Amino acid sequence: MPTNKFYITTPIYYSNDEPHLGHLSTTIYADILTKYKKELGFKTLFLTGNDEHGEKVYLEANKSKIAPQTFVDDMAKKWRGYWKKMEVQPDIFMRTSNPKHKEIVSTLLTKIKNNGDIYKGVYRGIYCVGCEEFKTEKQLMDGKCPEHRPDQVSYKEEENYFFKLSKYIPQITKLLKSGELSLETETWRKEIISRLEGEKIQDLSISRANVSWGIELPWDPKHTVYVWVEALMNYFTATIIYKKESFYPANVHFLGKGNNWFHSVIWPALLLSLDIDLPKNIFVHGYYNVEGKKMGKSLGNVIKPNELIEKYGVEGTRYLLCATMPYNKDSDVSYQLFNDIYNSHLANGIGNLARRLSTLAKGSNLVTKIDFKNSLSLNNEIKNAYESYNLTKVCEEVKKQMDEINQKIAKTEPWNIKEKEKKDMLLKELVEDFLKSAILLKPVLPDTWSKIEESLSNKEVQQTEVLFSKLN
Ligand code: MSP
Repeated sequence: MPTNKFYITTPIYYSNDEPHLGHLSTTIYADILTKYKKELGFKTLFLTGNDEHGEKVYLEANKSKIAPQTFVDDMAKKWRGYWKKMEVQPDIFMRTSNPKHKEIVSTLLTKIKNNGDIYKGVYRGIYCVGCEEFKTEKQLMDGKCPEHRPDQVSYKEEENYFFKLSKYIPQITKLLKSGELSLETETWRKEIISRLEGEKIQDLSISRANVSWGIELPWDPKHTVYVWVEALMNYFTATIIYKKESFYPANVHFLGKGNNWFHSVIWPALLLSLDIDLPKNIFVHGYYNVEGKKMGKSLGNVIKPNELIEKYGVEGTRYLLCATMPYNKDSDVSYQLFNDIYNSHLANGIGNLARRLSTLAKGSNLVTKIDFKNSLSLNNEIKNAYESYNLTKVCEEVKKQMDEINQKIAKTEPWNIKEKEKKDMLLKELVEDFLKSAILLKPVLPDTWSKIEESLSNKEVQQTEVLFSKLN
């Protein structure tokens, strides 16, 4: 039976720091897809939030000499504030220090244990606190984590409880290969399958003996639950805490490639053990690189969200992240690239066209009511792009249409038409063409669309304000 419900999640981000470009992009994509589905009449549930436990957050709180709970409370305020500023409207802002989350996690773990899927053992190996992950030799480069500073990596030997991950590997491999467990996009699906088939997958340590900032194991409170395990469970616990059970399971978990293994292998294995439904789809995107290099503090090439907002505005930033989305590969960005896209797609594209048409049609009575769903049904390319979460393609297609409308204006020269009726007819056609394309960016640029609609779609056309000022 077709359902009109859509549950989408982002990873819940560590609250050790404020959001960076990567967090911003995944969350904006999820917000845009939620707004898109809403336009189509879906009931939506959009979850984002903070992953508040574990060593990484604890160490940062300690460094600031603030109690961990106060530290994560402050961070949650900052993150929520960020999303509000970026026009991101989650239905649930999940926090793992929520006492109800702790309660449900305890129940779930007890169930896994009662199923015979948990045993005690000794872990010996490398742990990267940046990833909050035990690393295999293969995942390290010269003994270092490719994503974090060398001081974040250390050898650990501790008594842990283990989850029988290996027991579920054949089943998960089969589900992923058959597509029953859908993992997009192709690059990252292949990567996971080749790891599943090429390596002997070890059981997963699910408790930490020396990390106090976490959820106590119900049967052995000297241990806390490994932060990733309880974080993954948030996608389930949140639906109970916020009384949205009917939305479970997620239609799509949206995430960056670094989180793929956890979402495509560990999370499904925990769910299989619990006999709870698997997510319908896992969508993995690549990372942003800056001028060919990995973005990082030590390289001094970090693009800060606030700098983007200052330069391009909130909606300019939302648009640029979509236009450069690392879909099926990593994406190389630079201020030069952002400037070029901003000028050609926004300032000279949609912004200039709105101004040009509203100047030509000012005072005319064109009354052009446009509907998102109808416009989409006339645009298969864009519909397919949205449906496959390819937001770069959405931007490219709309840009093409804007260029075509500009060419049509140049060809038809409405300013040379003397007869009012004939001129109004042509202007109505051009304005309609424009609105039908522009509305398709409504999920990306909600405020810009309101301004366009207000000036061009009204009884009497008003001149549109400058929506995106050209950058030099
Ligand atoms: N707390 C875990 C997730 C638990 S989810 C049950 C975590 N948090 S994180 O703060 O490190 O955020 C990881 C996510 O940030 C990635 O999945 C991705 O969405 C985003 N990105 C981090 N770096 C990125 C880039 N360089 N480029 C694009 N997105 C990236 O891991």
